[in-house]
Amino acid sequence: MDRFVIRGGNPLVGTVTVSGSKNSALPCMAAAILTEDEIVLENIPQVRDIDTERKLLASMGAVLHIGEGSNSGQTTISCRNLSDPIARYEIVKTMRASSLVLGPLIARTGMARVAMPGGCAIGARPIDLHIKGLEKMGAEIAQEHGYLEARASRLHGANIVFEKITVTGTEDLLMAAVLAEGETVMENCAREPEVTDLAALLTAMGAKIEGAGRSTIRVQGVERLGGARYRINPDRIEAGTLMIAGAITQGDLIISNCATAHLHAIVYAMRRVGAIVDVLGPDSMRVRGTDRFRGADVSTEEYPGFPTDMQAQYMALTTQAKGISRITENIFENRFMHVQELVRMGANIRVEGKTAIVQGPARLSSAAVMCSDLRASASLVLAALVADGETVIDRVYHMDRGYEHIEQKLSSVGAQIQRMGNLFDPGEA
Ligand code: EPZ
Repeated sequence: MDRFVIRGGNPLVGTVTVSGSKNSALPCMAAAILTEDEIVLENIPQVRDIDTERKLLASMGAVLHIGEGSNSGQTTISCRNLSDPIARYEIVKTMRASSLVLGPLIARTGMARVAMPGGCAIGARPIDLHIKGLEKMGAEIAQEHGYLEARASRLHGANIVFEKITVTGTEDLLMAAVLAEGETVMENCAREPEVTDLAALLTAMGAKIEGAGRSTIRVQGVERLGGARYRINPDRIEAGTLMIAGAITQGDLIISNCATAHLHAIVYAMRRVGAIVDVLGPDSMRVRGTDRFRGADVSTEEYPGFPTDMQAQYMALTTQAKGISRITENIFENRFMHVQELVRMGANIRVEGKTAIVQGPARLSSAAVMCSDLRASASLVLAALVADGETVIDRVYHMDRGYEHIEQKLSSVGAQIQRMGNLFDPGEA
């Protein structure tokens, strides 16, 4: 298991480039299941979750080619021969977003055998809303031996109202609806840019979709979909994480290749704390830190509100802000595991129910800390960038799931960060 060794204290100065969105790439790769033709996706980040999805699709019979050199962001997928429409537990247990293949498999082949994703560090994260929607569209879904066994001669359109806003639930059912017979109307949909990205790819493949990015999405089913070439969005959470890295180190960072239109809530929250954020254009911004950050409350909400995936990173920033910051997590029930690790580094944080109360500023000091999930890892890296001394962060495989070449990017603008292989590798616990 790799670990990061980070010596804090350097302001980050220079330009960092944002990679493609992991959470756009995952549904867009699953969409290749919907056609016999070839799909070419560009701006795909080289992160663990993408490798896992490639393995999953290949295990079903898909043929994938990954670009090399300057083309490394390109992935070509052909699902002409889906010989084995099964998402096995060995793969699903390492990435719950594997459930995104459920809708497209049923739509394309009339059957699917997908391992239930099981629990997750940040919460129960059931997929009951995916199942309910697919059953309304005519799928018969049984649960046995930890697998979902789904069958449908042909899915038919339905009126679906999501009881809760779910990002991958919206994406899963959207992919089912595009090949269903008749019209599907989905209400209370997720409005995340990753949903809009998927809808744009599906439309390029021949789907008939209205309203993606809004609460109500209307789909006219078609008989078949064709191939397409599509470039996915930049990763808005990586962009937000790099923005906080520039602010917390009192640096001066240009964030390039981002989609500033997707970052309004993050920009607003950072300005309220006192970071100097200049939007330079549709795909770049400049972030400067100061030594006079002030505490500010934030509550996580579905898009376009403040993203839950930025909650841990924002908390690291507020440890350096004067006064109280109340950070309320409304999306997941257990997304404060970074709190105890930040406290071990000297932060003053207490949790009351869904709210973490941060008292700052606190001098952070280096400590041996451990990652628990993808975004908690980012929070610990941000804290280590300002902590006195050398911080060792263990289990960085969590970070590798969603951040492409993060240590190279941070080093290129002045961070003292090194990746060390673990001498005694007890295996991934
Ligand atoms: C997506 O997860 C993202 N993952 C998550 O990013 C992100 O945190 C989350 O959306 C919220 O924005 C991908 O896109 C691959 P949800 P998802 O369904 O779709 C409950 C990261 O850091 N719910 O929107 O799984 C659920 O328990 C990851 O990149 C049900 O009850 O999240 C949660 O409380 C972490 N039943 C809430 O809804 C369901 O059937 C929102 O979950 C589905 C969801």
